[in-house]
Amino acid sequence: MFLALLLRRAGIESVVLERHSRDYVEGRVRAGVLDRITVDVMGRLGLDARLRREGLAHAGTTLMFDGETFHIDFQALTGSHVTVYGQSEVMKDIFDAADERGLNVVFEADDVRVHDFETERPFVTYKKNAEALRVDCDFIAGCDGSHGVSHSAIPQAKLKIFERVYPFGWLGVLAEVPPAHHELIYCNHENGFALASMRSPRRSRCYLQCDMDERLEDWPDGRFWDEFVQRMGPETGARVTRGPSFEKSIVPLRSFVAEPMRHGRLFLLGDAAHIAPPTGAKGMNLAVSDAVMLSEALEESARNGSQTALDAYSARALTRVWKAERFAWWLTGFTHRFPGNSPIERRLQRAEFEYLRDSRAAQTAFAEKYVGLPLA
Ligand code: DHB
Repeated sequence: MFLALLLRRAGIESVVLERHSRDYVEGRVRAGVLDRITVDVMGRLGLDARLRREGLAHAGTTLMFDGETFHIDFQALTGSHVTVYGQSEVMKDIFDAADERGLNVVFEADDVRVHDFETERPFVTYKKNAEALRVDCDFIAGCDGSHGVSHSAIPQAKLKIFERVYPFGWLGVLAEVPPAHHELIYCNHENGFALASMRSPRRSRCYLQCDMDERLEDWPDGRFWDEFVQRMGPETGARVTRGPSFEKSIVPLRSFVAEPMRHGRLFLLGDAAHIAPPTGAKGMNLAVSDAVMLSEALEESARNGSQTALDAYSARALTRVWKAERFAWWLTGFTHRFPGNSPIERRLQRAEFEYLRDSRAAQTAFAEKYVGLPLA
């Protein structure tokens, strides 16, 4: 959707095919931290009226290890901040704008297939209300996730896959209760990671590291809050307001990159090419930066026929993707409990925590990645 809106602004038409309904996409709970690149693009596209009213500027975050905390001040270290605003809110704003701007978005498009993308005349087929339809196009943007048709249409031999599946997941709840703290708290407790996040001053989003074979039925709200309060420690725990959850889910953690991000006239963006573990909330932000880079390349090609930027897209995007992958991997590694961790690994995690606590240089390195690296 970001790509379609950016292209529209440049006078380039597109058709967006979405497998689900608008309600489904808007209702899907995802991360809620926008980095500065995403906020900038929302502004450039004139999509930020509600974001500016309702988004929460977070100038820093708190890290906690075995009950000890310290604060990282993004604003002081980078002159920048992040904005807490749910991905579902972003989707609502984008779909409203798409409606107003007459963008061609087809919801509930079935059986989407990409064809002939290694030739000059690629096309996409799909079904809508059982009618078979076809879009002939100059380029195809595969923005359909790691299990989508774009990724799977590429012969395996042409993809270099890098993957790590983490031996745990995140159990997340949404509850209509005020957050325990005005900023996010990333916590490494001996029972496992916990994250105190939020969607608004009245809505908390809280996570617990859990085993992937846990079942939601075994986590009634009472048990969730007991464990959450314990991991947050006495001081923060005392400020946790318990309330009924209205969403509860377990998400797996995975690092995944499929190189390259271009195959002829098919370009991959977002989860179709890369997935980061949620720690650090990079997923949607990376998809948006891919969209910015591809829109710039397509604009250049439309303007003067040059293929240079299109040829450079994959390498340019991957440079930024890998830096974000590295950050999410690193942050996951030192905030989570790994099965079979020996005492030396936990002691090394503590050393990492203390280094960050004591070094302004280390905090700056953290902050510049958290608020979003420049596009370069
Ligand atoms: C959220 C998710 C994250 O992965 C993160 O690092 C911060 C916040 C969230 O869903 O609120």
